[in-house]
Amino acid sequence: MEMTQTPTEPNLARAQVSGSWKAKPARLATAVARWGANYIPLSFFKRNPKQIIIDVTNSCNLRCPVCPVTFAMTRPRGLMSFELFCLIIDDFIAETNKPEIFFNFSGEPTLNKQLPDMIAYANKNGHGTFVSTNATRLGAESAERIIHSGLSRIALCLDGFSKTAQEVYRVNSDFDAVKKNIETFLSVKRRLNARNPVTILQTLLTSYSEPQIDDLLKWAKECGFDKVRFKTFSLGSHTSREMRAAYSHFLPESRALRRHADARESILCSVPRSQTVVFWNVRTRPLSTRMCGA
Ligand SMILES: C[S@@+](CC[C@H](N)C(=O)[O-])C[C@H]1O[C@@H](n2cnc3c(N)ncnc32)[C@H](O)[C@@H]1O
Ligand code: SF4
Repeated sequence: MEMTQTPTEPNLARAQVSGSWKAKPARLATAVARWGANYIPLSFFKRNPKQIIIDVTNSCNLRCPVCPVTFAMTRPRGLMSFELFCLIIDDFIAETNKPEIFFNFSGEPTLNKQLPDMIAYANKNGHGTFVSTNATRLGAESAERIIHSGLSRIALCLDGFSKTAQEVYRVNSDFDAVKKNIETFLSVKRRLNARNPVTILQTLLTSYSEPQIDDLLKWAKECGFDKVRFKTFSLGSHTSREMRAAYSHFLPESRALRRHADARESILCSVPRSQTVVFWNVRTRPLSTRMCGA
């Protein structure tokens, strides 16, 4: 089992120097690079992105308080049709470098009942595929359909190892039910003797899950997860000061487990060239953090 690490103390120390005099030359370089970026020819952006995020729904059955789907979604809610999904995939039939398809952006993908058919269609056409789910709607039958679809990777989210830790953030979920659904998914995969999908336990690092890291690792090993990912908690980049204050109790006590600016961040953002989002009702845009509610 592989564990994706969270920020370490040395990383944190590096991030903290960015406010000091040492950061000044970097600021000048950034300004020069941003000015120069205006002269990059448009053809540079015309290649296919590495990943296409297909928003098969922007609806969700949970109300995680600091998720933009809960507090900032202004787009109409809906489900993408299978026919529309196939048309998007068909656009890449002639391509040799197939983008990876991510099935979640701003909602819970398992709410779209055609998710397994969509994954199978993308898989049949040579795309790698990834799903992240809150695991509230996974039973033995849906697990079997998803595994048979040929999905490459799945992140099964459990945000702590107690009722309080999970339910204080994943509002409307039931800890015992989600834990059982995840165990069922892994046992179905074992029964089918399937290599895919690669299974990732994903847990948000909050003050509630912070003391439970060892329990989560032990459980992940017992259940047969391939990987564990502890994701740093974000208070959101577009949240109001009031919201940030109201939800700051989620931040872990250990500063090393909190999200911080990466001092090694590249000067120009590469995301617009690497990822594109397709909304369920088919507006497309390069990815930006403002997109969820747009
Ligand atoms: C918007 S959800 C969509 C997919 C699915 N509903 C889920 O929860 O996995 C995508 C990701 O956002 C993460 N997320 C939600 N709130 C977060 C927060 N405050 N900080 C960091 N990640 C967060 C979830 O854990 C999940 O990995
Ligand atoms: S389950 Fe996923 S989409 Fe739904 S509110 Fe939580 S983080 Fe957002």
